[in-house]
Amino acid sequence: MDYRFDYLVIGSGIAGLSFALKAARTGTVAIVTKKDKLETSTNYAQGGIASVLGPDDSFQLHIQDTLTSGDGLCHEDVVDMVVRCGPERIQELVSMGVFFNQGSAGTPAFDLGREGGHSRNRIIHAHDLTGQAVEKVLIATAEADPNIEIFENHLVLDLITQHQSIKAGSISLQQQNICRGAYVLRSETGEIYSFLANAVLLCTGGAGKAYLYTSNPDVATGDGLAIAYRAGAELANLEFVQFHPTCLYHPLAKNFLISEAVRGEGGRLIDKRGRAFMGAYHPLKDLAFRDIVARAIDTEMKKTGDDCVFLDISHRDADFLRTRFPNIHQKCLSLGIDITRDPIPVVPAAHYMCGGILTDKKGRSSIENLYAIGECACTGLHGANRLASNSLLEAMVYAHKAAQDCADQLDGWRSRTLPEVPHCFRSRNENSSLLSEMVLITHNWDIIRRLMWNYVGIVRTDKRLALAQAHMAQIRMEIREHMPHIPVNADLIELQNLALVAELIIRCAIERKESRGLHYNLDHPQKDDANWLKDTVVVRRQTEEFVCALQPNDALGPQ
Ligand code: SIN
Repeated sequence: MDYRFDYLVIGSGIAGLSFALKAARTGTVAIVTKKDKLETSTNYAQGGIASVLGPDDSFQLHIQDTLTSGDGLCHEDVVDMVVRCGPERIQELVSMGVFFNQGSAGTPAFDLGREGGHSRNRIIHAHDLTGQAVEKVLIATAEADPNIEIFENHLVLDLITQHQSIKAGSISLQQQNICRGAYVLRSETGEIYSFLANAVLLCTGGAGKAYLYTSNPDVATGDGLAIAYRAGAELANLEFVQFHPTCLYHPLAKNFLISEAVRGEGGRLIDKRGRAFMGAYHPLKDLAFRDIVARAIDTEMKKTGDDCVFLDISHRDADFLRTRFPNIHQKCLSLGIDITRDPIPVVPAAHYMCGGILTDKKGRSSIENLYAIGECACTGLHGANRLASNSLLEAMVYAHKAAQDCADQLDGWRSRTLPEVPHCFRSRNENSSLLSEMVLITHNWDIIRRLMWNYVGIVRTDKRLALAQAHMAQIRMEIREHMPHIPVNADLIELQNLALVAELIIRCAIERKESRGLHYNLDHPQKDDANWLKDTVVVRRQTEEFVCALQPNDALGPQ
């Protein structure tokens, strides 16, 4: 079955929803999301949105902090554009009904928090549940819009592009480069649909699940990166994986972040003996840039052999803590940790992918009619290390720019005749005995995450990266061998995507022979501006073939 819309938005976080709400003014929009519509990284964002809103702040200061964090790789024109567009985008959220904490009498209108690397208080927030506050309002607004249809539990398998052909069980590349839509699996029924659209927006978030420990929800399996790569789009800077310094360390706490805002409010990192250690690593101590704090914790844990360090905010007033951090307070309390009295056990964990699908300043990828917005994109804003709370800001600014660009082109798109694509693809081997062999998927899933954590983590070496590459090649070969024998299902597709993204992260990390921002290699500990003041770009090779999860209904692949 075919669906036809003006816009196909893949992902229901802040990037996808912000775009959809604007695009719906000019055309019809399908939002395809692989689980529940609220199951997005946005929904778990605690800290807030960085923007110039305080009387002591300026665009210049926010720009400078972003550039310093990015360690030489930010694109200055992009930083300038994003920072300057910030206040207007925040105002839009407020007009839609998003509540942000207000300052007390005699202070700026909003209560502005502080996070690592910021020289001013500029993080607007809704207690410690900012992402959820934004997500709920955007979803409610989208659901009320007659031009928007949301498809939950729909997982994109691959893009439909004019230069990609699916034949005889493999996907290969041809010359032309235009995106027409996507093949989408409805997880509940196993049916596969073609969604055709004039413009396709990848807003699929990050790939934190490539690592054993992550702050990301389970949906963060790098799908957008993988399908863009398979379709031939340029990706960049995947070696810059940001590790958040402070995720809750507790056997019953899965992926729970302790926001950097806790350090912004005076929280101090200490070891098991109560010794504060950040002073030994950076003059900004606990509010140093994230890469520095995460590496410091990693070093301390390796030195002492301890399983975690602690974040102590118990010196602050208990009522203040309960009001400012209701979510963190409640979660910790449920595990027997009272943050008003006890230090919080924390470890670093994979948090944000700074690289992604290369885009221009309108969010356009290297494939015609394909855009990327949010964490899956590499716009040039973050460089080698994202400044805290710049990500929701980036998503909103690029959603706005992309919607404007699409509106300018829509008449032209509508006037052209769309080529035919095969209507539907079926999964094969429905009765395969391997259907019960889910262990093939779960085993490889575990191995990838452990491998990436141990060999491609906070501190890297040439040897560890080479070993990781060899292991990943083996794992990917195994997955390729299984694929034709297992009916298409969401777990298999996510595993295939995660394995590809892990391999690309390793490839970029091996390529960059220096240490910069989040990429730290003990064999190349210095920054090498002469050779590496540039993005690490990867693109699918013409000869590279992928086993196809789909089977054409007829002899032809998409033309
Ligand atoms: C946090 O609350 O610490 C996360 C903020 C971010 O990653 O931007």
